[in-house]
Amino acid sequence: MAETMEIKRGLEGVVFTESELSYINGAEGKLYYLGIPIEELAEHSTYEEVAFLLLHRRLPNKAELEAFDQKLKEKRALLVEKVASFADYPRNAHPMAALRTAISELGLFDPKEEDTSFENLYDTGLSLIAKFPTVVAALKRLREGKFPIEPRNDLSHAANFYYMLNGEVPSKEQEKLLDVALILHADHGMNASTFTALVIHATASDLYSSIVGAIGALKGPRHGGANEAVLRMIQGIGDASKVPEWFQEKLQKKERIMGMGHRVYKAYDPRARILKRYAEAVAKAHGHSREYEILVAIEKEAEKYLAPKGIYPNVDFYSGVVYSDLGIPPEFFTPVFAVARIAGWVGHILEYTEKDNRLIRPRAKYTGPLDVPYVPIEQRG
Ligand code: COA
Repeated sequence: MAETMEIKRGLEGVVFTESELSYINGAEGKLYYLGIPIEELAEHSTYEEVAFLLLHRRLPNKAELEAFDQKLKEKRALLVEKVASFADYPRNAHPMAALRTAISELGLFDPKEEDTSFENLYDTGLSLIAKFPTVVAALKRLREGKFPIEPRNDLSHAANFYYMLNGEVPSKEQEKLLDVALILHADHGMNASTFTALVIHATASDLYSSIVGAIGALKGPRHGGANEAVLRMIQGIGDASKVPEWFQEKLQKKERIMGMGHRVYKAYDPRARILKRYAEAVAKAHGHSREYEILVAIEKEAEKYLAPKGIYPNVDFYSGVVYSDLGIPPEFFTPVFAVARIAGWVGHILEYTEKDNRLIRPRAKYTGPLDVPYVPIEQRG
């Protein structure tokens, strides 16, 4: 007898677990980590503190933050052999594919990879939060034909990342800009990459496998890959004066505007609002920014045609302009997103381990026939 099953396409609206980490109010365009408004964290916190918040589900006191920061610093460095093996990756491979492989390699050579105890999950998670910037910066330098730069333990997480990417210590403003971008991308509810990480983790597999899966999900242009796609879109348009005509063509062809729309937000993404402010400041500091002007022109058109459908800029819309100013090339925008989101992935894995830890296994409605006779190959047409 056929079962009646309601299909939730794309699992939209399906709730499968509880979480305290982040809350998205999609109707009002609000985001909170552990109940703290994202605006407060962007202004007053640091990525290190936000990582502690997501792993421990509370803010640290001064001594706890110092100890956490110290542990992160100690775990930043990679073995020279590992970096040497990154040098063999093809230069034309996408950096997200390289990152996926690099993290998988770290797991392969970790003697404790199969240890899925909570303590080891925490330690390995912390180590990955510390190492992601080192890996991404090394991949960038190698792609440019340069030697990777070793991490410096006298710099903050963001400043050290900038230093390893660009070979120079950032100004206070640049450090804050990168720190804010990392804070804003650190977690976002049950997004596709976090869900992927949990699906893998819930099979009782190892942490590296969960994170590698999450990187694969983040790579897609409907998820983290959108930030790179936005910059490619801007490059294709060329000038703000061309936007109205370009936009009409997009509408006619029913093509999507990258960096717009969201499964949960039906209002302006608060992260986009913060990043827009920084992108504007960066544009003003340079006296002019072609990219920023194109984005503002697109947003103006979108207000008329897409906002009535609840489609607004998301986090990826303005982030690229900010990353470009920090010396990050477009193909590294999504790896930088991963450098931030690793804290959210690890936080959710720890939380799920503590609270739920059940295999995640939905179903598909079977629509095929039954009791079909097996036809021997000789008798098939
Ligand atoms: N530009 C134009 N129209 C868009 C749109 C966009 N960026 N995003 C959604 N829409 C429209 C769809 O065409 C669809 O219209 P229809 O009902 O007339 O067919 C409607 O909005 C719903 O889209 P749907 O794909 O069902 O929504 P979703 O919740 O599955 O998709 C995204 C969410 C993020 C995948 C989608 O908004 C998108 O592709 N955005 C661009 C990529 C992006 O920026 N991703 C980063 C997200 S942080």
